[in-house]
Amino acid sequence: MSEWKIICLVSDIPQHGARVLQRTGLPDVALFRTGDNRVFALVDRCPHKGGPLSQGMLVGDNVACPLHNWHINLESGSAIAPDQGCAARFQVRLEEGQVLLDETELRCLGH
Ligand code: FES
Repeated sequence: MSEWKIICLVSDIPQHGARVLQRTGLPDVALFRTGDNRVFALVDRCPHKGGPLSQGMLVGDNVACPLHNWHINLESGSAIAPDQGCAARFQVRLEEGQVLLDETELRCLGH
């Protein structure tokens, strides 16, 4: 069963940008907010060589990795072909302007 944890407000994440959630002993989580206020969460490590996706530019529903410009889909975490690979993706719930993530996923996803 999911245990949802309040992380921040949607408005704490810049539109077309990202905010980083740090975790102890695990890679950070990048929270992305699109221009139409959807929020996605991926591990903050590119599947190519670990670039910080939170510092990439949003291009539609993808983020362009700042290191070598792979495009990673925000919804699936998958690299856009011809590149291959996948960043761990976290479920996101939005409630009354707040962003919630699943505690269980936060404890174990994205090694
Ligand atoms: S590390 Fe992201 S494209 Fe190379």
